[in-house]
Amino acid sequence: MQNRIRNFSIIAHIDHGKSTLADRLIQECGAVSDRELGTQMMDTMDIEKERGITIKAQSVRLTYVKDGVPYVLNLIDTPGHVDFSYEVSRSLASCEGALLVVDASQGVEAQTIANVYIALENDLEIIPVINKIDLPAADPERVKEEIEHTIGLDCSRALGVSAKSGIGVKELLDMLVDVVPAPTGNADGPTKALIYDSWFDNYLGALALVRVYDGKIAKGQEVYIMGSGKKHEVLSLMYPHPLKQEKTATLEAGEVGIVVLGLKNISDVRVGDTITDNRNKAKKPVDGFEEAKPFVFAGLYPIETDKFEDLRDALDKLKMNDGSISYEPETSAALGFGFRVGFLGMLHMEVIKERLEREFDLDLIATAPTVTYRVIKTNGEIKEIQNPSQLPAPNEIDRIEEPYVRATIITPSEFLGNIISLVNGKRGIQEKMDYMNPQRVLLEYAIPMNEIVMDFYDKLKSATKGYASFDYDLSGYRVGDLVKLDVRVAGEVVDALSIIVSNDKAMTKGREFVKAMKEIVPRQLFEVAIQASIGNKVIARETVKSMGKNVTAKCYGGDISRKRKLLEKQKEGKKRMKSIGKVQLPQEAFLTVLKID
Ligand code: GTP
Repeated sequence: MQNRIRNFSIIAHIDHGKSTLADRLIQECGAVSDRELGTQMMDTMDIEKERGITIKAQSVRLTYVKDGVPYVLNLIDTPGHVDFSYEVSRSLASCEGALLVVDASQGVEAQTIANVYIALENDLEIIPVINKIDLPAADPERVKEEIEHTIGLDCSRALGVSAKSGIGVKELLDMLVDVVPAPTGNADGPTKALIYDSWFDNYLGALALVRVYDGKIAKGQEVYIMGSGKKHEVLSLMYPHPLKQEKTATLEAGEVGIVVLGLKNISDVRVGDTITDNRNKAKKPVDGFEEAKPFVFAGLYPIETDKFEDLRDALDKLKMNDGSISYEPETSAALGFGFRVGFLGMLHMEVIKERLEREFDLDLIATAPTVTYRVIKTNGEIKEIQNPSQLPAPNEIDRIEEPYVRATIITPSEFLGNIISLVNGKRGIQEKMDYMNPQRVLLEYAIPMNEIVMDFYDKLKSATKGYASFDYDLSGYRVGDLVKLDVRVAGEVVDALSIIVSNDKAMTKGREFVKAMKEIVPRQLFEVAIQASIGNKVIARETVKSMGKNVTAKCYGGDISRKRKLLEKQKEGKKRMKSIGKVQLPQEAFLTVLKID
């Protein structure tokens, strides 16, 4: 049975045609009718559709007949973004092969490389696929050379295809069957299955998408989840399909399927965990189980303070779908009650914030994103902090360590100068520069993660007119010369604006902050000092002059209704004010200042 199964993924840089090719393969195998193929099926969530990114892996079981023999092809979708690299690695661990899709008019990009590394770590058979050969700008030969040069992958069997028109797709399926190895698990051994994706279904509860390595999973079986240490009964089993999931009584070695255990909590079926038989347990779980760990943190506060409980409910609901977010309540003198939320990366943060606003109708303020710093105190204690306000007093700190990433950037060579000055400004250390060909360069940098969490990607895009691609992975901690920069209004620290920043940037940043604040803090009846400080040392200052006159004095004559309107308007405005000591600050003060980079 196993020799008729092929498990594979498609790996590609964003927009190189992964979803289009997936849909085309589904259609070629007759798994959906032409009518159903109206929209791209592999991306199901709204935000994914709008942004054209794939967040949650979707998989599909297909049947393909080659030379009269039917094969089961399991297309295992991987999240396209590096924020989800742990999930990418678990999806790829479930396959024996991968189609490496590269756009014939673009060439190898940063994400292509990041994903290939993960595929190679998992020993996958990689088939290079040059997509979009129908485009006039397609240059398959150049792209093949690039793949050979940068990735070292033999491209003599690379296939040119057009996912859009269907050219080459049948040949691709034939090659897949010939080249991708069949699974070789022990069909009679104890059950061993890897959970490579999980999500929450309103009717069925938490679902686990698994790849069975050894033995089988059967309906009614009592299974044991090795990481969580809990046992459950298998209520039903299904083959994955984006539109109609078919039930099955068993999932055999080598197969991929959805396991329904009737669980309410998605954290009981964590990605990377192993399912085995409760009475006949596997000796070892599938290698490489890790908790998905948040790397980027930000405070999220409802703009209307009475929406705190709504925000909690919304986060609880999102957590049911996305086990990787973490959150705990925090309070800010400036912003009131909110949550410190942990995300897997920058894109993940954006997506979650957007979902909270859109699906749960919340207006939110997010504080500046921060990373996890490791503070080594003079008394030897080590403290991990995710919020600048947790930083111990300067005299208690021996040193602070910060996380670094290894960033891969691929750019047309004309933008090299722009990139080098951008990255230098971000404390980046160049580790590699390789001309893939005379027009395109691959760069590798070690960059403090703190420098890229704000808007590095946007800056890179504007420095290269959108032509550079960028990807990163974590590369460990290094000591940094870091300080906490505070903003004070009339002497009071505005906690929501405190940031941890490198010492040599503190001065510039401090000046920018006070200047921006000066524009925003409304005049009061008294003079207001706006200061930036490190500890007690003030490094920049601006002053908002006192107002002197009553605002209503503007309304000459006795137009009472106009006067009342003005007062009402003021009252309305008050609701959106946050008080810092004696001073009322408008909401947008935070938004504007938080946007400064
Ligand atoms: P993400 O889901 O964002 O990672 O992108 P993707 O890699 O799935 O790319 P997608 O399939 O959404 O394709 C990106 C764009 O390229 C779409 O506008 C497709 O219509 C187009 N496209 C995909 N394949 C081809 C092709 O073979 N030829 C041409 N001309 N366009 C294609």
